[in-house]
Amino acid sequence: MEDLKVVAGNSNPPLAEEIVSNLGKELTEATVDRFPDGEIYVHIKETVRGASVFVVQSISRPVNDNLMELLLIIDALKRASAKQIAAVIPYYGYARQDRKQTGRVPISAKLVANIISTAGADRILTVDLHAGQIQGFFDIPVDNLRGDPFLAKSIKSRISADEGVVVSPDVGGAKRARKVSQKLNMPLAIVEKKRDNEDGGVQVLNLIGDVKGKRCLIVDDIISTGGTLTEVAEVLKDRGCLHVEAVCTHGIFAEDALESIEASAINSITVTNTIDNREAKEAKFVNHISIGELFATTIKRIYKEKSVSTLFPHS
Ligand code: R5P
Repeated sequence: MEDLKVVAGNSNPPLAEEIVSNLGKELTEATVDRFPDGEIYVHIKETVRGASVFVVQSISRPVNDNLMELLLIIDALKRASAKQIAAVIPYYGYARQDRKQTGRVPISAKLVANIISTAGADRILTVDLHAGQIQGFFDIPVDNLRGDPFLAKSIKSRISADEGVVVSPDVGGAKRARKVSQKLNMPLAIVEKKRDNEDGGVQVLNLIGDVKGKRCLIVDDIISTGGTLTEVAEVLKDRGCLHVEAVCTHGIFAEDALESIEASAINSITVTNTIDNREAKEAKFVNHISIGELFATTIKRIYKEKSVSTLFPHS
């Protein structure tokens, strides 16, 4: 695998290190820094001519800087004659505006897909895209890995099938939550939620399913402000559940999410390491699971032109 190289931007150094260590490699030497005026400076310091290069960069906070770093790294690699450039985007940001929900708004997910392709990416590797259809915004291969087997595994060790209920915090997430509930052999409850277009506030309209006397496991793809989790947890408690925890792939923790989750009815949350968030790492009620090995295994399979879907049997 000499011509397999991994370059990292500044979004998630611990995950990038974990990926290369699982591959038995070192990160390709590169400088990704700033000019005095804030512009991004990229210099790949080793040859990548003819190499298959995987660029690890989440589009997480600071979102625009991290996106721009990704684009400039790809451009540098393309101009340095890399054979294949794969953008490994553990957290794919700008995914929530994937259609026009009202007049005069952008479809940001499509624009970002266009820019990444234009920069020179030959393929995309990510996990739990907010909306699966974003794969179609690209005309290059997109491998969208699934976080649910990892989330389910983290629950299995803590809660038995007869005491738990898996809860989807919105109708859109029901498919993901159902996969977890099937894997754990637990019933599924679904929340109907409404988001205010102006202030983004969350309102729970309805809860389908019985949660009385149960331990509830909210399964979601993203925790941003924590508004969804805290509102849903309150309704679950009102309906008589004993304990609420949440398992989510991407822990953004925007604004005062950590404080409001800690003050809410939620007992604990589990997130993967697609986003590097120091404050969340220090919070006692947040458990962390790593998906570095999954990315490393997938990168190896892509490099060797082997199937990726076989990593997710019975899906
Ligand atoms: C919504 O469709 C997503 O699946 C998440 O529920 C949402 O992005 C979470 O955002 P927040 O934490 O700000 O409520």
